[in-house]
This record gives sequence, C-alpha cells and structure tokens, in this order.
Amino acid sequence: MNTEEILTTGKERVMNTYGRLPLALVKGQGTVVWDSDGKRYLDFVTGLAVTSLGHSHPEIVETIRQQAEQILHTSNLYWIPNQVKLAKLLTDHSFADRAFFCNSGAEANEGAIKLARKYAKKHFGSDKYKIVSLKNSFHGRTLAALTATGQQKYQEGYEPLPEGFSYIEINNIEQLEEAIDAQTAAVMIEPIQGEGGVNLLTKEFVHRIKEVCVKHGALLIVDEVQTGMGRTGKLFAHQWFELKPDIMTLAKALGNGVPIGAVLATEEVAAAFQPGDHASTFGGNHLATAVGCKVMEIMTREGFLTEVQIKGEYFKQKLQLLAQKYGLKAQVRGLGLMLGLSVGPCGPEIVSYCLQNGLLINCIGGTVLRFLPPLTVTIEEIDEASAILDRTFARAFS
Ligand SMILES: Cc1ncc(COP(=O)(O)O)c(C=O)c1O
Repeated sequence: MNTEEILTTGKERVMNTYGRLPLALVKGQGTVVWDSDGKRYLDFVTGLAVTSLGHSHPEIVETIRQQAEQILHTSNLYWIPNQVKLAKLLTDHSFADRAFFCNSGAEANEGAIKLARKYAKKHFGSDKYKIVSLKNSFHGRTLAALTATGQQKYQEGYEPLPEGFSYIEINNIEQLEEAIDAQTAAVMIEPIQGEGGVNLLTKEFVHRIKEVCVKHGALLIVDEVQTGMGRTGKLFAHQWFELKPDIMTLAKALGNGVPIGAVLATEEVAAAFQPGDHASTFGGNHLATAVGCKVMEIMTREGFLTEVQIKGEYFKQKLQLLAQKYGLKAQVRGLGLMLGLSVGPCGPEIVSYCLQNGLLINCIGGTVLRFLPPLTVTIEEIDEASAILDRTFARAFS
C-alpha cells in the first residue's frame, strides 16, 4: 500500500478513535524513523514513552528472534521461566516483593485498583473501597482506570462509572487531608503527570500522601506506566522522592514496543490476591517477559541511568534557552528525558512544522509540547532536534 492508500483505507476501515497526523511510519533505527515515502524523522515521541531503547535495538531484536524460535506462548496454568526471572529482576530493583503481569498500562492500573480493594476488604471490611486520585491525572481507558483518571473529558458518555472515586488538586495538602478517611482503600498518583501536561508532584506533597495513607490504613499506588523504566533518569520516578509505595504499575517501556504491563506490590499487599482472584491470558507470556528481562538488563547496566540524567539536563537547558530566545514565560518542566514546555495555543502548529522539518514531537491539551526521546538518544541528535525547534519557533512566534 502506498501512503495515500494507507490513509484512505485507514479512514474508511479503522474505528475513528484517534486524531492522527497524515503519516505512516514503516521503519526505525535508534532515534530515527522513516515514513512510507522514505522521509526521515527524529523520533522524540517514542510511541509515547514506549521505545525507550530506540527502534530495532540489536539486543532486543535478537531476544525476540531467539524467543520466537523457542516458544512464544503457553499459559499461566504453567510456570513461565522468563516471567519468574522478570519478577525477580523488578522486585530486586524496587520496593516490591511480588509482580503480576498483564498487557497494558490501563490493565495494570485496573489490577492495582482491584488489588487495593481486595486488600482493604480483607483487612478492614467492605466499607473500605474508595480510591482517591489527582485532577488532571491519566490512568488509562478501561472503566475503572478511566474513572480514576481525573479528567472529565475522558469519562463523558461512559456513565454510569464505577462508584467510590474522587479527585484532589495536585500538590494541595489541604484537599488531600479532607479527601482521605477511613473508607479510603488507596490513593493513586503519577509521580509526574504525563498526559496531564508534564506536571511534577512536590516531594512535600507525596510524603504527606504517604503519611495520610498510613494514618488511615490506605495504600499508596504509584502509576509509573509513563515515568517508569528509566524515563526520568532513575529506574522508577518515585525513587527521586525516596518514597515507599505499596503498589506500582508499569507498562510502556518495559517491553520497548512488545505489549506488557505489570503490577508490583509488597508481600503483605500482594497476599490479598489468591488463585482465581485475577488473571490475564497473555499476561507475562514467554515473548513479552523475555523482552522485559532484556530491557531490565540493559537499563540496570552501570552508567545507563546516569547518562539519561546527563542528556536530560543537557536537553532541558537547550529547551530553556529556546524558550528565552522566543520570549516564552514558561519554564521547561520534567525530569530526565520526560520534558514539557507550555507554548500556548500554537502547540499543534509547532508539532506540524516540526513534522515537516523531520522531527516528531507531541502536544498535550493543545498547549504543552512534550518531549520523550529514546533514552539512548545522542547529544548530536538532541542538537539536531533543538536546531529544528529553533527554526520552528522562529516561524511560530514571529
Ligand atoms: C500514566 C499512565 N497510566 C496509564 C496509561 C494507560 O496505558 P495504556 O495505554 O497502555 O493502557 C498511560 C498511557 O498514556 C499513562 O501515561
């Protein structure tokens, strides 16, 4: 199919759930992708924080090839060696003691909410079921994850929504203390709100959440679907806050493009799930967990995360200089290689100019540019992207 056929047939035959750019990507290598007409782009979207090791990473390609030759899928009726290995790797490198595997971020969050409610019911009785999350958050599109998502626009049309969810303002300690009570089963947060606009939670706020949770016997769930797996320069973003959650969810970069999700929990909390309580046919299959193990192996190599921090700081400074040059009042926000810049209503226009100039970036809510390059991006590629942004800003802000 040529580009025109892909776009025309796609518009006729694929459900119309995405506002897509007129572009079909067909090949990738490291930070670079090519479209169906052979045009080259720098990929600073990475499938929304998924291909964090870049496209066609040779070790990931080899892992997929070898695993495909060996065995792809059996069932959770039997033990899956790579699943056990990945559970060990993830728990060895986090607060957690046990892992459950699924296929996406929403499914991981759905599992986390179910686990929190099961735990609360087991230890405190059936009156403890409420989930408190943050306004502007994003936790996925399944019904419970959608209800935990503190943005009405995603919920409209799907009512009645599951009961027991409420929302508080980010970094608002007063609202936090009012919202959590004896009926709260869990508080759910993203350490940095991704889809909400790259909004950072303060250390004071997250520690207060933990204290209030402990006081009321509620669990703290951190959604690290976007911030996890090295994106912020630590393996998990909550580690910047020296915070100990009870449950953590992962997906996206854990499989570098192979679908996988995970729910991690402490021994005490995980014990609320018993055989039959939760399941997923594809969850943690041989292929997905083989890739997950390789991703973990690469990301935990000496120096990998330090490099992410250095490159993140370099890119942040470049973006800040551009913001100053074009008179933008907003500060560049984010950590590591998860960065955002408010540019006002010309956001979509900037995305489109960048596309024409060979750079893929993303815009949240029509006003915030989000930059999610692969963690393997080079300084030269950051310079090239910054030069494209410079030309683009010159056009957009002139
Ligand atoms: C923080 C967060 N949680 C959950 C999700 C949902 O993940 P998925 O699209 O894999 O269901 C996303 C997706 O962007 C996310 O950013």
